[in-house]
Amino acid sequence: MISLGIETSCDDTSVGIVDQSGKILAQIRASQDRVHQVWGGIVPELASRAHLENILPVVDMAFRESMIHPDDVDIITCAYGPGLVGSLLVGIETAKALSLAWNKPLIGVNHLRGHLAAVMLACPEMAMPSLGLLVSGGHSEVIYIEPDSTVKMLGETRDDAAGETLDKFGRVLGLTYPAGPEIDRMTFIGDQNAIQFPVTKLKDGSMDFSFSGLKTAGVRAIEKHPEMSKEDLASSFMKAVVDQLLDRLLLAIEKTEAKSIFIVGGVASSAYLKERVTKLGDSVGLPVFVPPPSLCTDNGSMIAYCGFLYQQFGRKSGLDLQPQSRLPITAM
Ligand code: KG4
Ligand code: ZN
Repeated sequence: MISLGIETSCDDTSVGIVDQSGKILAQIRASQDRVHQVWGGIVPELASRAHLENILPVVDMAFRESMIHPDDVDIITCAYGPGLVGSLLVGIETAKALSLAWNKPLIGVNHLRGHLAAVMLACPEMAMPSLGLLVSGGHSEVIYIEPDSTVKMLGETRDDAAGETLDKFGRVLGLTYPAGPEIDRMTFIGDQNAIQFPVTKLKDGSMDFSFSGLKTAGVRAIEKHPEMSKEDLASSFMKAVVDQLLDRLLLAIEKTEAKSIFIVGGVASSAYLKERVTKLGDSVGLPVFVPPPSLCTDNGSMIAYCGFLYQQFGRKSGLDLQPQSRLPITAM
């Protein structure tokens, strides 16, 4: 069985071709970073136009790389939400057209379930139940996956997401969008204790996150310490973001019976986050699973593989599939 996955929920146009054993036959990604960099963040109108330009060449390149023929594809999958509606529409309508033209079943996938599928694709040995973080530009959630694949959300952000927080701080620091990768690199160079940011705690042992206070404190620190190196500022800030992520993860470990820990989403590409979560896993005796960076940031392979998981539940979409700007991770 072979699945073709289309991902256009935000600012990357990506197509993956994956077989059911988890082998990635092709993964192509057209980044829009340069389109949005001048604006310091994603401009939805420009994102959908860029997806329109990129989608068919990216599908074509994926087939060339995989060296398979469209006849060999068994299912066509696409992310249908959450995300930018104009961006999602491009991927959804392309998937519908391919499904109709090639007479293959269409499966619309929740983008967030796609991020979870990335770790199942990369780490099939991961023991269940598993506990983890989904950390990206738009989402920060504590997730528990039951042995029967039921997904529970134990905590979510009450304001900004972790990636968004890094990107906004980086913008004030003068870094190009998205700033997460550069901040991550700087964390290994600067002094992580140059500035001590407090870890925001919420009442009643809540596992929710709140990053807006930290973001304001980070911007103030940049203004207050013009003498300080960008590396010191960035590494202190990154440490504070990760301190909060790990604080909630530890709370969740204490409250659940997890047999493993995972991190997924764009921010899970961070070498620093991976190092800190691995240390936490060692200290509590739980193995840690992290997909490679190419499967952490938005990609078509995670959507393609998630299509197989949906198929096991008998899920199929019709040509009336619509984009959903908001979609909880608990929804299929
Ligand atoms: O999952 P993703 O590609 O798109 C969304 O669904 O949001 O995540 C993008 C986010 C951006 O905020 C970006 O700055 C962050 O992931 N990111 C990183 C790294 N690579 C990407 N953050 C920290 N370290 C990285 N290496
Ligand atoms: Zn994403």
